[in-house]
Amino acid sequence: MVVIQAADALRDRLAQAERVAFVPTMGNLHAGHMSLVEIARRHGDCVVASIFVNRLQFGPNEDFDRYPRTLEADRIELEQRGVDVLFAPREHEMYPVPQLYRVQPPPIADELEGAFRPGFFHGVCTVVLKLFNLVQPDVAVFGKKDRQQLKIVRGMVQQFNLPIHIESAETVRADDGLALASRNNYLSATERVEAPRLYRTLRAIADEIAEGRTDYANLEASGRADLAKHGWKVDYIAVRHGLGLRIPHPEGLDHPHLLIVLGAATLGSTRLIDNVDVVPKDGED
Ligand code: PAF
Repeated sequence: MVVIQAADALRDRLAQAERVAFVPTMGNLHAGHMSLVEIARRHGDCVVASIFVNRLQFGPNEDFDRYPRTLEADRIELEQRGVDVLFAPREHEMYPVPQLYRVQPPPIADELEGAFRPGFFHGVCTVVLKLFNLVQPDVAVFGKKDRQQLKIVRGMVQQFNLPIHIESAETVRADDGLALASRNNYLSATERVEAPRLYRTLRAIADEIAEGRTDYANLEASGRADLAKHGWKVDYIAVRHGLGLRIPHPEGLDHPHLLIVLGAATLGSTRLIDNVDVVPKDGED
């Protein structure tokens, strides 16, 4: 595996590649990222992973400064998993000062995550578009844990006619259900025991819908109340349609199998997000 920091060196290295499969990350890698790498290996003869903590997707009061940076451990892990190129650009390589142009994502980017993290998807789309232009992958792999991100990136690829196929990867969970995430490292031992409640809450709502409930607002409200009772500060618990993330029809006209339940809540000082399908479907997002 080669580690490359500069755009021109990346271009030279990738000129030899037939089919590039790309996994963009912000580092501090865990088994969830490794599942993306595994998928990438099945789709390309050259696997590129990037590590770049993207300042543009952090709000002014968010954790950009304390976001865990573990480049050497990540490098070793990626090398062991058969990654061919690790692209770890420096800040100046990615962003001129200032970066005046940004991707304007669609209105859905102002809902759910976007409602609580204004500008988040401007930052994500801008860096992903830049990384796509630098790496020029044939395939890029994104995790379903960041479901809204996955949908918005898919839309960007379609609407900007980017010749890139987006593959999705199932969320990888700890045995107790907690979705793996770099921010789990912030949890204290006691919080770590409590943390899977977010997943259990979403799963319980999804199971009720699978059994025929269509009073989504009640289900969302009771999920929020249960989390709040256990000390969480809830941003949203939302039932949405899997295609396009629109709000489902209030009279339950949407097929329940197409619905998903998303949530974001803070435990102590750690904000966690997760989502589940009403009916889990491998390979679909
Ligand atoms: O999902 C992430 O880790 C980030 O949002 C991404 C896609 C690498 C962009 O910075």
